Amino acid sequence: MSTSQDSLPTKTAQQMSMDGDEPPSKYIINNNYTDKFGPLETSPPFAQVPIIDIGCFLSSSKQYGQQIELAKLRSALTTWGCFQAVNHGLSGSYLDNIRQVIKQFFELPLEEKRNYFRETGSVEGYGNDMTYSENQVQDWCDRLFLRILPEDQRKLRFWPKNPLNLRETIDEYTKNIKSISVVIFKAMAKSLDLEEDCFSKHFTEERDVLQGRFILYPPCATPDQVFGLKAHSDRSGITLLLQDPGVEGLQVLNDGKWYMVPVIHDAIFVNLGDQMQIMSNGIFKSPVHRVVTNREKGRISVAMFTEPEAEKEIGPVDALVDERRPRVYKTVKDYAAFNHECFQKGVVALDAVKL
Ligand code: OGA
Ligand code: NI
Repeated sequence: MSTSQDSLPTKTAQQMSMDGDEPPSKYIINNNYTDKFGPLETSPPFAQVPIIDIGCFLSSSKQYGQQIELAKLRSALTTWGCFQAVNHGLSGSYLDNIRQVIKQFFELPLEEKRNYFRETGSVEGYGNDMTYSENQVQDWCDRLFLRILPEDQRKLRFWPKNPLNLRETIDEYTKNIKSISVVIFKAMAKSLDLEEDCFSKHFTEERDVLQGRFILYPPCATPDQVFGLKAHSDRSGITLLLQDPGVEGLQVLNDGKWYMVPVIHDAIFVNLGDQMQIMSNGIFKSPVHRVVTNREKGRISVAMFTEPEAEKEIGPVDALVDERRPRVYKTVKDYAAFNHECFQKGVVALDAVKL
């Protein structure tokens, strides 16, 4: 892995924001920056992303309401690749507490957060995005990235000791995210008339793999020239995201157009990642998304990524391959590493696994 370009910021985005600095030139999208997904728009139309009552998937009966939600789910994932999950069993105050704990971490003095700084050439820990090339436009955000599961792979030196309840909060939230994800994986399978566990088994059979990215997008003096997070699709199987109830910022690409994802206070925003697009033989979408910044308001988000174990081969599930729908994707192992390699070569990983 080439890491010679990578470095920790001399000043975090948060610090620059607090000092009233204009974003430095490496954050600015200039005329040389060509994004194949289109130019930055700070306020595109709102995305009519379906709101899905996932509570109704919990009961095993085939009641009418469940059938309606399953059809909505299928339609959401084949068109947008994402939806807003409501009735997921986690209360608004519980979710507020998680956001609060993350906020408290970012509010610590930089000297303390420095203890958790990532190392150059590695993403885990507190800091900025890794830099792969000189021309890379920087994201206006600071993040804490942690490998949460499997538990024996945790690097506790990156886990903040402060706020005191942070570790415990992440642990508990992880358990909840795991159970919600299983419900969603099973519902996805049912929505395609497949065996209930045909997706979930790839994620939960042996060891779960889950990463958390806790992000602060500080207020930015020039939101029309800077990305909070550049356009990407997630490499995960599924991503569950807590948005900041105070401000929008997440945008999703659909049919070549950008839309702003509305904030619904107690909803969990769910998007699929590349590995589910592959497993579903291209039926479900892994949407391209990005984040824009705001002049007045900072934004916090909590993203939890679930993916299969690196050693496991993944590919389109058998039941979704037939003469009518030939196999679209190859089988891959360690999609994370593959995705990383593609990214460095400037290739879209999903294109590179196409047959
Ligand atoms: C991500 C992501 C969105 C957000 O971390 O991959 O897309 O709103 N985050 O922070
Ligand atoms: Ni993402």
